[in-house]
Amino acid sequence: MPSPEMRQAMVTAPLGDDVFGDDPTTNKLLELAARKMGKAAAAFVPSGTMGNLIGIAVNAQRGQELIADADSHAFFYETAGAAAVCGVQIRPVHTEAGVMTPGQVVEAVRPRDDPHEPITAAITFEDTHNRHGGIAWPLDALRAASDAAHAQGLRVHLDGARIFNAAIALGVDASEIAACADTVTFCLSKGLACPIGSVFCGSGDDVLEAIRWRKRLGGGMRQVGVLAAAGLIALDKMVDRLAEDHANARTLAEGLSEMDGLRCDLSRVQTNLVYFDVESMPASKFADECTKRGLLGGATGARSVRFVTHYGIDAADVQSALKICEEVLSD
Ligand SMILES: Cc1ncc(COP(=O)(O)O)c(C=O)c1O
Repeated sequence: MPSPEMRQAMVTAPLGDDVFGDDPTTNKLLELAARKMGKAAAAFVPSGTMGNLIGIAVNAQRGQELIADADSHAFFYETAGAAAVCGVQIRPVHTEAGVMTPGQVVEAVRPRDDPHEPITAAITFEDTHNRHGGIAWPLDALRAASDAAHAQGLRVHLDGARIFNAAIALGVDASEIAACADTVTFCLSKGLACPIGSVFCGSGDDVLEAIRWRKRLGGGMRQVGVLAAAGLIALDKMVDRLAEDHANARTLAEGLSEMDGLRCDLSRVQTNLVYFDVESMPASKFADECTKRGLLGGATGARSVRFVTHYGIDAADVQSALKICEEVLSD
């Protein structure tokens, strides 16, 4: 949920028309966002999904292929948008923990001289990796995978929906992570607490093409400064506090791992996401029972549940959450 300061800024933001590129609040946000990602330019998009779709469209042509982790958001949760909208086929690669090795990258690239196979144009990495527990790629591993992709002539898109969580977990600047990619999308919503919005960043030409795609998708928004105003506060005030979410997630995960009937792999709890398995009942029942008691989480598989810590959840809330879980398990 947006902070009171965000809500206030949304009310008073100076506005223009971002479709004409003259919304002053949006322009201020885009300048800051591009700087934070170390890219030349940026465009405001309504969602991470649209940002990724545009990332695919900008980096691959119709009839070409894009490599992605089999558990990536782009492959798993974006309604086959790459195929349906861009005419791009995704080649899924199964990874150990969301981290693709240079060998896996090279192996997934099609031979250029075989006319039976599509041309591999691009690859997308996800950092932090949602379905792999919110892990942050070790920077060396991301650089190695990205270098391998570039050496094969691929374009690299980074789904950095939670790039600032990765940066905080690794103790590096977000631009060091973004430097591994040609284009990057990050979300102002999610942990940064904005009500709506993501930002697509890349070179000037990439962003021009992104804006063309955004228009095609109906994502050009007019006085979007009302949202960008919250985004400015997110980048200014909400990044450093992500460390609190990580600490809360850790406490939550440790508590869950001690409960009979639950299994939580603590090595995967590196940021603000806590995935765990429920052994004694279906995950959906566990999540429903928690919801009835005011604890919101989601079943992500037959046995798997995801909790997320974020702005508005403090250490006392974590203790209440643990009590509720105990109650549900013992009912
Ligand atoms: C890794 C990742 N990428 C992209 C998205 C899509 O973001 P949005 O919900 O804003 O479309 C999500 C959403 O959960 C995500 O977890």
